[in-house]
Order: sequence, then C-alpha cells, then structure tokens
Amino acid sequence: MALHVEAKTANLVSTLTAGGAEVHITGCNPLSTQDDVAEALNDVRNVHCYAKRGCTVEEYYAAINLVLDAKPDITIDDGMDLIHYIHTKRRDLLKNVIGGCEETTTGIHRLRSMAAEGKLEFPVIAVNDTPMKRFFDNVHGTGESALTSIMITTNTLIAGKYIVIAGYGYCGRGLAKKAHGLGAKIIITEIDPRRALEAHMDGYHVMTMDEAACLGDIFITTTGNVAVITGKHFKNLKDGVILSNAGHFNVEIDIEWLHKHADKVVRREGIETFFLHRKAVHVLAEGRLVNLATPKGMGHPIEVMDLSFALQALCTRYIVGNGRNLKGGVYDVPDEIDEQVANLKLGSLGLSIDEMTPEQKKYLCSWDIGT
Ligand code: ADE
Repeated sequence: MALHVEAKTANLVSTLTAGGAEVHITGCNPLSTQDDVAEALNDVRNVHCYAKRGCTVEEYYAAINLVLDAKPDITIDDGMDLIHYIHTKRRDLLKNVIGGCEETTTGIHRLRSMAAEGKLEFPVIAVNDTPMKRFFDNVHGTGESALTSIMITTNTLIAGKYIVIAGYGYCGRGLAKKAHGLGAKIIITEIDPRRALEAHMDGYHVMTMDEAACLGDIFITTTGNVAVITGKHFKNLKDGVILSNAGHFNVEIDIEWLHKHADKVVRREGIETFFLHRKAVHVLAEGRLVNLATPKGMGHPIEVMDLSFALQALCTRYIVGNGRNLKGGVYDVPDEIDEQVANLKLGSLGLSIDEMTPEQKKYLCSWDIGT
C-alpha cells in the first residue's frame, strides 16, 4: 500500500490483516504521514510500515521500493506510485501481481492513459470513480477537511472573503458549497464549459484565473493539473493572499517561480510567506494537499473515510477472487459492492429506506402503457 499513513488508514490496514493479509505500507505524500501512527503500525503483527513525515524525495522512493521488495499480490495506491514503479523500474514483479485498487482522481487519470496505450498490465479497480467514494469523500471530505486545515493553519475568517476555487469537479463542488455556507463569496475557474455553466447556475461567479487573480483572498486548486496559478497571476495577487492546493500533487501552484522571484521568504509551521515587492503571498503546505500536509492537517474525518476504505477493503477481496480472470485495464467498482457499502453505512446510522413494492417493480419494467 502507498496511502496517507494516518489513523483512518491504520483501520484499513487492521481490516486487511484481520482478513489474513500481510501488509507492507508507505506514504503517498512526503508530508502527510503521522509518525505516531506509522510507529504504532510497526507493532502490529503482519504489518510493516516504511512511511516517515518530512522525508526527502530519495527516502520517499526508497520506501516505495521497500514495499515492493515484499513482492505484492495486490497493490493499493493513492496516486499510482506503486503501479508506476512496478511497470517501469520493478517489472520483475508484474508476474506476481493479481491486481490493484486506486483511491484518487489523479491516479485514475494516469491509469486510464496507461490503459489507453495498452501499457497497464494488470487489472485495477477505480475506487475513486464509484458513487460511494465521489459523493462523500470528494465532496464532503475534501470540502470540509481542506477548509478546516486552511482555517486552523491561518486562523483566518472565511466569512466575507472571496474564495477562488480552481476546478469544479467533485472536490471543487464540495469546497464551494461548504465555503459558501460559511459566508464566503465563491469564484470558480474551469476549463470545461459544462462544469463552468453548472457553477454559474449553482450561484457562483465564473471567470478565468487571469480575471480572478486580483480578486481572490484565498485560492484553492482542485484541478489535478499542472501550472494553474503561475507567474502572470502572482504579479496581480492581493497583498496577504492565501494560496493552497487540494489536488493530489504539488504541481498546481508554481512555487518555483515564487522562490525565484521573491525578495524574501518567511517560514512558519505549514506556511511559507513570499514577499514580492513588499506584497505578502502565503502558500500553505508547500503547495501540497492542504488537508493532509499542514502540520495540523488530519485528512478527511472518519465519517467519510469509513466509506472509502470499506470500498478499498471489499475491492481488494474482489480482486483476490477475480483478478486472475481479468485482463490489464481499469475496472469500475462492482455495483453490488458500492450498494453494499451504502447499506452498511445506512445501517450504522440507524437509517431505514423504503423498498420497491412488486407493483412498482412491475411498473418500472413495463413499456406498453396501453394508450
Ligand atoms: N486519509 C487517508 N487517506 C486520505 C485521503 N485520500 N484523503 C483525505 N484523508 C485521507
């Protein structure tokens, strides 16, 4: 596994070991590991954890290699590091791997590109893309945990601020809804005309990043793409602006440009302040995932991670049983698993739903309405 090593992830690890697995795990971001959790995991039978917060890039990939030295049957990624490594630097392992699961949008994009080129050599379940993940983890999880992390790190008020959200996917929609609920004025930037129109009709301002640069008080990128806020934008930002990223990789804000052009950089826990001709630009968590990579960032709350990790555990079991019969490629989460997780959660919340009557079932299946 290469996942954010924190308390909820440890519960997934326990679940898998209870099912008979031996787990080798490392992080999927150099700043998201909680070292006490990593240490505790190493005391659990059949678990080996190699993650460390604040590791260098070399240490990060050394840990990926240590996980792979275990010759995995199943991979569980959040960002595709294990699968990428196996297909490029550790191809000897391909014959062992039955299949994998991927947790995040960015990982799925890359896996689909690999599959389109015929380069993905084992089946991978797109856990991110199933309704029970996207509707809760991406919308409510990212929506709340990214804002929580921004608020705890900066002690800034959201009410009355202009918040620029780059990308109106599931994470962007969640962030917009929650920030709007706190009294912020929301600006959405998009590249997809349908999503832009959706944002407009959801009641938000829609404009380009060039236009938004001089208006925003807080920026949150959620595009999964590279170079979203760059030099031409930095020049127009307000004094005291806060920049943060909620996408998987630290490529959305051009931090290199800031390092090159700033007169001075001041560092505090989780915040780097770049001075550009006396204007202060605060960047959170080095432009890495703001909900996990700030010192107090704890990731999504358990009430959504239980859903995502129930999907991961059940999809892992599915791959163990079915992976050998599947070709290399990206597969949807089986609908029965998605529905099972929804039913389990409803049960745990003590919520009941109606059941279709035989008359209703018959009505929905009929086409001859007899006019
Ligand atoms: N905790 C563990 N994995 C996480 C993720 N992908 N996003 C937010 N919190 C997490």
